[in-house]
Amino acid sequence: MKITFTSAALEEVSGRNLIVLATRDGKVVGDQPGLKQLLAPYVESGEFGKNSGDMVYVMDPEGFQFKRILFYNLGKKLKGADDLRIATAAAWKELRSKNFTETALSFAGLGRGLEQRAMLEGLILMDYKYSEFKTKKEKLPNRLEAVQIHHDDAEANLENNVHNWHVICRGTCRARDLMQMPPNVLHPESMAEIAKAWSGEHGFDIEVMDGQAIRDAGMLCMDSVGRGSEKDNRFMIMEYKPENPSGKTFCFVGKAVTFDSGGLSLKPSAGMPEMKGDMGGGAVVLGLMTVLRDAGCPHRVIGLVPAVENMPSGSATRPSDVVKTLSGKTVEINNTDAEGRLILADALTYAARFEPTYVVDFATLTGACLVALGTKIYGVMGTHQPLVDAIMAAGTDVHEPFWQLPLWEEYEDLLDSATADFSNVGSTRWGGTITAGLFLKQFADNYQWAHCDIAAAMMENAEDYYPEGGNGAGVRMAMRMMELMD
Ligand code: BES
Ligand code: ZN
Ligand code: ZN
Repeated sequence: MKITFTSAALEEVSGRNLIVLATRDGKVVGDQPGLKQLLAPYVESGEFGKNSGDMVYVMDPEGFQFKRILFYNLGKKLKGADDLRIATAAAWKELRSKNFTETALSFAGLGRGLEQRAMLEGLILMDYKYSEFKTKKEKLPNRLEAVQIHHDDAEANLENNVHNWHVICRGTCRARDLMQMPPNVLHPESMAEIAKAWSGEHGFDIEVMDGQAIRDAGMLCMDSVGRGSEKDNRFMIMEYKPENPSGKTFCFVGKAVTFDSGGLSLKPSAGMPEMKGDMGGGAVVLGLMTVLRDAGCPHRVIGLVPAVENMPSGSATRPSDVVKTLSGKTVEINNTDAEGRLILADALTYAARFEPTYVVDFATLTGACLVALGTKIYGVMGTHQPLVDAIMAAGTDVHEPFWQLPLWEEYEDLLDSATADFSNVGSTRWGGTITAGLFLKQFADNYQWAHCDIAAAMMENAEDYYPEGGNGAGVRMAMRMMELMD
């Protein structure tokens, strides 16, 4: 997709389409008087409608060079930047349905960078479609090929900002692609191959450990999860080194269970197809690695992705098996469906060797998180409150909302085991997201850590700027979080 810029007076700019957002009383976002005047008669006549989502086309608008202006109704008032994201997405969907492949947006008069960003993201994130396995390509919607951005001169950094936002959205879409890929195609080995290809294209280093190397290194807890699968495990270790390093090291760890059948603690069949998205944490970390160089991240970033497939078979881990983790602590695996924490335990121990300033893990870890927070909010907990705060603030800014749950120490006893140091599941199902967090905490020592339970990232219905299924949430938040922790 090509992005061009102009800071000429809006009246002088020519193009096929311009999207303009306005409240139902005719107040135009960006407050451009010429546009307001143009819209006024449609507001008076009632043609602009009253509800958010109503719209009106103005063809050959007087005083403008655009062929058409699409005025999109935001309803009564603009509640926040995400309204701009949703509205721009819907307006683009409308134009796209008319077979257009291009549009202009005006950023002039838009206050904060976050609002401009929201409009651009609405276009790009809406335009996403995973179509690899659709053979009738002609049935697919048009794709956005060109965006023209109008702005006022005052915004010196705008072009650079837009470039970065675009890069970050592309990383989000790469994470989505991985989440949408069917699990017979995306398994630990192929995921590692994709990561290797991306390392060359996007400027980060990678080392991949295979199943034997993982065992030799003593990561037997991770090893236990892949035992039932015919696919070999992979552990991806990635590093991005900036040209002028800030001195901080962020380490991101992502759960990548390429398919979670539950193992011998088999899941019921109804929700099982969704479990192809159980590598969503790993997808976030890989997507993130692809944007660091191009978005000019000033920090050293380590990405760790343990990838396994959780399957039942004669060689699978049995409920009640005991394994030794990389940390030396032992775990009794009482439920093979609580496997994400097992692969993360070893990866979190591994993380310490990079002497990271901060470690953040992403995992589609517990169904309980969906019960607690619903399908639109992700859970966060951690040992370093400023990091947790930055995750919540960043999530609010980019509308990938995170809400904190406590690492409640009194619940630690729930993980007691008669035979090993810990059980991998709580003795009660209540508070399942917290007990999972407390389990991880046993392995996240020696650094400042936060855990993001993004179970909801694989549960999305197709709406607004989200596709059906895996939505890639976490990439935009993590980039913003690193900015806030500067
Ligand atoms: N991958 C699942 C968590 C999940 C469930 C994510 C539904 C998204 C939607 C995880 O591995 C799992 O199965 N967790 C169990 C833990 C339990 C056995 C303690 C769960 O949440 O039921
Ligand atoms: Zn599971
Ligand atoms: Zn899982």
